[in-house]
Formats: sequence, structure tokens, C-alpha cells
Amino acid sequence: MQIDVLEGIYTDIKTDSLVLGLFEDEGLSPAAKYLDEPSRLQGLLTRAVQKKQLTGEYKQLKVYALAGKPEHVILVGMGKRSQFTHERLRRLAGISAKAARQLGTSYTTNLHTMILTNPSEQAKSVTMGTVLGLYQFSKYKTNEKDKQKIVDCVVLLDTEKQKAEFARGVNDGHAIADSVNLSRDLVNTPAKDLTPKIFAQEAKKILKPLGCSVDVWDRRDIEKKGMHALLGVSLGSEEEPQFIVIEYGPKKQKPIIFVGKGVTFDTGGLSIKYPYTAMLDMKMDMAGGAAVIGAVRAIASLKVQQRIIGLIPATENAINGKAQKPGDIVKAMNGTTIEVLNTDAEGRLILADALSYAETLQPQAIIDIATLTGACMGALGYANSGLFTRSDVLRDRIQSAAKATGDQVWQLPLTDDYTETIKSDVADIRNIGKDNFAGATTGAVFLEKFVTKTPWAHLDIAGPAFLPDEREYNPKGASGAMVRLLTELAQRWEPLDG
Ligand code: BES
Ligand code: MN
Ligand code: ZN
Repeated sequence: MQIDVLEGIYTDIKTDSLVLGLFEDEGLSPAAKYLDEPSRLQGLLTRAVQKKQLTGEYKQLKVYALAGKPEHVILVGMGKRSQFTHERLRRLAGISAKAARQLGTSYTTNLHTMILTNPSEQAKSVTMGTVLGLYQFSKYKTNEKDKQKIVDCVVLLDTEKQKAEFARGVNDGHAIADSVNLSRDLVNTPAKDLTPKIFAQEAKKILKPLGCSVDVWDRRDIEKKGMHALLGVSLGSEEEPQFIVIEYGPKKQKPIIFVGKGVTFDTGGLSIKYPYTAMLDMKMDMAGGAAVIGAVRAIASLKVQQRIIGLIPATENAINGKAQKPGDIVKAMNGTTIEVLNTDAEGRLILADALSYAETLQPQAIIDIATLTGACMGALGYANSGLFTRSDVLRDRIQSAAKATGDQVWQLPLTDDYTETIKSDVADIRNIGKDNFAGATTGAVFLEKFVTKTPWAHLDIAGPAFLPDEREYNPKGASGAMVRLLTELAQRWEPLDG
């Protein structure tokens, strides 16, 4: 899709439709007034405002037909000016893009000009909402009529001569949104077509052209490293596990490490998921890994001067005669022994090895991203990922990156009170708690055993990674959660001392 910034006025519009914003309780904007003149909409908008049909209420969408170009004017309610945020701007860009798609293959928008405090940021938000909102996963559809129309071109109207700033925002927003969409594609792809090996190949295909190095370890390499927690999970699958190591940025810097859970399908193993509906979406269990690939893609495209290492332990959690059994004890790379009492708590097992390895690389910080627990979904639903950390600096940075990007997080407890529950009678720790409470925190205190010297945060994306229905700019299915947050974090990063 082409996104252009064009200087011009509303009469010059050559696209199929025009999107105009309208703040609540402010009446028609100058742009809307211009279109409402006798030669165009002939007072239709003014009358609609008088009759309170057109109020500017947040997310209101009204379509008016015109003779000639544009053929349609879409009026978008922006809500109260005092409540306006970048997240609202992204969401409005998403819903108006989808409305415009129904009406043609191109449109012009002025949403980014509604508040001109930071032109490049506004253009970025509109671009992101647009590109994310128009995403579709139609690779497996064979019938053209089952696919959404394609928008060829979006024009950001520039009446204020801010072209350079707008273009910068468009460029950054487009690169990041494309990376989110790529991450969505990986997550939406069925497990049959995204095995650990294919996942690793995709990582290479996506990242190598951007100057990243991608090293992929096979089963033997993983054995040599002593990653027996990862190996245990992979025992029950015909698919070979892979450990994907991604590197980007100046070698002399201490890296930030992103660790992403890469379970390409989670059957639960012998502690099999039940009823069958609990397994339906489990191709999404590599969404943490896909977020890492998406984020590094965005960071590399934007040439952010920050060293990043991405680690993705990739495996299936499946069942055959060799499958790991409840009661098995495995030794993770850092020497900790783990009693596996539930083979469905596999994410923390593979992350145990990945985090152990991360620590050997002497990073400034480690952040893991994982679809780890149903309990986190129970607590936070789909709108927020769980944030677990003991580092105030990481908490602050992650929360402000979340605020800025719309990848929302909410902090949940990670304190000593919960570590008791993962003590094992026969090994060092067990992979499930002794009771069924605070399951998301149980996962976090388990992971913490593998990060002893580095500031670390854990993001449980079980809810936001895969949505049960469409949102303003998120489709049903994979959302690409955390690509934006991780990218923002890297862009804003200041060295952590100590
Ligand atoms: N991948 C699941 C978590 C999950 C569930 C993600 C639903 C997205 C949607 C994870 O491997 C898992 O099975 N967790 C168990 C842990 C339990 C056995 C301690 C869970 O949450 O039930
Ligand atoms: Mn599981
Ligand atoms: Zn899982």
C-alpha cells in the first residue's frame, strides 16, 4: 500500500473517498464547512449537526455521497478534544480505513491534522492505525470474493505545509506497522506450515536482508549447551527443536535481550488440553517469538543505534511414545533441576533455558515475551498483557512505552511470597504451583529462578496476542502484540548502569 503526503485543498481530491474528523461539541471543522458549501454538500452536514445526527461522538461514522471525486465523505467522530489521545487517533484511523475500504480503493484523510502539536507523531499514529487496521490474513482463501478489497493508496492531506514532518511520521509508522503485520502472519500461520524449522527459516528470511545475523541451533547444538528443559518439551514431537539467535546493532554495546516463547503448537503434551476447544488456537503459542522477530525487524528498518539480541526457543509441545511424562525431572542450562508435574506448563520450561543462556551474554536487561498462562487472561482479559518485574527502571520504561504505543500492559505481583509454591520435594523446583491461585505470578516466579544477575521483566501476552474478535485496528486472531512496545523501548533506550 502506498501512503503519500500531498499538499492541497479539498477540491483537489482525486481519491475515491475523503475522511474528515469532527470533535464532539465543536460543530463543523473548517474542512467540513468547506465541503458543505452550496456547490458540494449543500448544507447537508450543517443540517445533520442541527438535528444531532452528526455529533462528533467518539467513533461515530457517517458517510455522505457526492457527485464526482471524492465520491464519499466519511465523517469520523473524534470525541471530546480534552479526551483525545494518540491511541484514539490510531483507533479512529483504523475504523475509518476499514470504512473507506468498503467504498473504494483509495482515500484521503485529514485526521492527522486535527491537533497539530506534533505533526510527525500524529502522522505516525494515523499511519499505524491505517496499516494495522487494513491487515488481512487471506493466504488460505481461494475465493476472491472472500477477501477484503485492497486499498492501493492513502493520501495524508497537508494543508499546513508540514510535509517533511508528516513524511517522517508516515515512514516510521509504516515500517513499524508492517513489522507488526509480519508478526501477525507468523502467528496466524497454522502449525503444519510453521514448524520450528520453518519458523527459524522465516526469521532468517525476514531479518538477514536488514543486516541482522540469525544463527539457528539444532537439537545437537541444544544438547551441547545443556538445555534439557527445552529438550524435554520437544521429546514428544517429530519436529526438531530449534534455538534461534538473532543479533542486531553495534557489537561494542552491551545488548538488551528479548526472549520470545516459540511453541509452534501446544497440545499440552500428556497433560493434554481439554476440552478440545482449549487447543483450537494453540498455533498462536509462538506469538512471543513472533513479537521478537517483528520488533527486531522494525528496529533494524529504522536503524536504531542499539544492540539487540533476540532469543527464541522453538519447539512443538506434542505427544508420541517418547513424550515427557509428569514426574520427569530435567536439568536446565543453569543447573537448576525441575520436576515436571504438568507437561502443559511447557512455556516456562523452554524459557528457563533461554533465560539461562541470556544471562551468559552479560546484557543490560532481559525482557521475555510469552503466551504463558491462561491465568493471566483470567486476570486481565484481552486488553492488557501482564507485566512482572522487580526492576523499577524497567517497569517505568515498559509502562511508558506501553502508553506511547497502545501495546497495553498492567503490572501484576512478583514478590517473595509466591516462591514457596514452586518448591519441589524431589528436585529444586516444580513447574506448577501447589495450589491453583495466582497462576500468572507462579509462572513469573518460576522464570525468575533463571535470571539472577540482570534487570529482567516478563510480559505475559496470553490474552492480547490472539483476539476472539476484531477491534478498531486489530483483526480477529493474531494482533502482533508487543512489536510496537519493544520497538519503542529500543528507540528510547538509555544505558542502564550496573
Ligand atoms: N500456552 C499456554 C497458555 C495459554 C492459554 C495461552 C490460553 C493462550 C491462551 C500455556 O502453555 C499453558 O498451557 N499454561 C497452563 C499452565 C498451567 C498448566 C500451570 C495454563 O495456563 O493452563
Ligand atoms: Mn501449555
Ligand atoms: Zn504454551
